[in-house]
Amino acid sequence: MIRDIVIYPDKRLKQKSSKIIDFNEELHCLLDDMYETMVAKNGVGLAAIQIAEPVQALIINIPIEEQDGAQPKENTLEIINPQFLEIKGKTKYQEGCLSVPGYYEDVERAKYVKIKYQDRFGNEHILEDDDFLAIAIQHECDHLMGKLFIEKLSILKRKKFEKEWKKKMQKK
Ligand code: CO
Repeated sequence: MIRDIVIYPDKRLKQKSSKIIDFNEELHCLLDDMYETMVAKNGVGLAAIQIAEPVQALIINIPIEEQDGAQPKENTLEIINPQFLEIKGKTKYQEGCLSVPGYYEDVERAKYVKIKYQDRFGNEHILEDDDFLAIAIQHECDHLMGKLFIEKLSILKRKKFEKEWKKKMQKK
């Protein structure tokens, strides 16, 4: 089922998500809904809090360029209860977010991350990356802490964003 996305400045996005303990049918339904919603909105990642479920679950599905940007379900990385084991280096990438639709800006992140997480069945995994996936992981993990990428902008850029965003929201 495609769910509604919580849009900035909705306060629910500031909630800290809680740890998942039950790896049951309910969680699987949530993850399936997250996938459907993300694909419907042309996203590459989504945290559960973005569909108003404050639990530590996020998904990432990097479109396959050679296949017209396809995002097959079996390629979805489902990350539950992530924990950073290592963070290294620095990089900059233009980010966007389904909760801040239509806005894109350069954000500084760590270049390399190594995380520990659980899958939908509760099995533990370790994952490392120093490319786009590393950035996506950091962006989505921020959501679980109640943080958005716009909070990483310079004061000047943030002010400009807030002004433009207010205007855009009033038009709706
Ligand atoms: Co986001």
